[in-house]
Amino acid sequence: MRRKLVAGNWKMHGSLAENQTRLTQLVLALKGNEATDVAVFATAPYLFQCKSLLAASAIKWGAQDVSQFASGAYTGEISTSMLVDFGCSLVLVGHSERREIFHETNAIVAQKFAAVLSANMTPVLCVGETLEQRESGQTLSIIVEQIKAVLEEVSIADFKQAVIAYEPVWAIGTGKTATPEQAQEVHAAIRDLLAQYDANVAQGIQILYGGSVKPDNADAIFAQPDVDGALVGGASLNSDDFVKICNAAG
Ligand code: PGA
Repeated sequence: MRRKLVAGNWKMHGSLAENQTRLTQLVLALKGNEATDVAVFATAPYLFQCKSLLAASAIKWGAQDVSQFASGAYTGEISTSMLVDFGCSLVLVGHSERREIFHETNAIVAQKFAAVLSANMTPVLCVGETLEQRESGQTLSIIVEQIKAVLEEVSIADFKQAVIAYEPVWAIGTGKTATPEQAQEVHAAIRDLLAQYDANVAQGIQILYGGSVKPDNADAIFAQPDVDGALVGGASLNSDDFVKICNAAG
């Protein structure tokens, strides 16, 4: 039985004061929830704060992006070893905002995935199609391409230490959620793809859904057999909503 993981993607939001309130509320409210894995992805300057406020709890924290390079003259970049210094155990790679706005290619995403694994952290590989791609029937081929690009860089066994997040781009921050059936269809296809390489890896991997997950749609999404949790953007900024989503998963 796969455990569910609910992760909050704070994106470029937060401040010392806001985070202090939010993290303290989460620790208190989720104390009794041992059934679900919970994580937050804060922006890099606040990872030290996550470490100090979450270290004694079961809530994990991670980064929203990382450099594919180990160190060197890469102004503005943050390396995996720096994230390890701040206690990160998870890193988002290939979020659609990084792919679209910052032009991250499948090849760069694959290198970041490999870098995260080499640092013994868990990459959360985000995949998903745009509205145009969905409407022209390319959803599955786009996702297969995104995952195969990573498999050119690492082995299938490496996916044992990874998480996949299916995030249809048209559902992110738009209030439009994929229907539970649409999510299930893609999640099952991702698991089938991995099973062609290794059935055990396919069975064990957590596949999260992301895209306008809210307290009122979480139950139906989590009821799908291949949905193992959620990557939550907007609703993760409201502690009450995020806790409700975590509790829906457990
Ligand atoms: P959303 O964001 O929940 O606000 O749609 C999800 C994400 O981008 O991870």
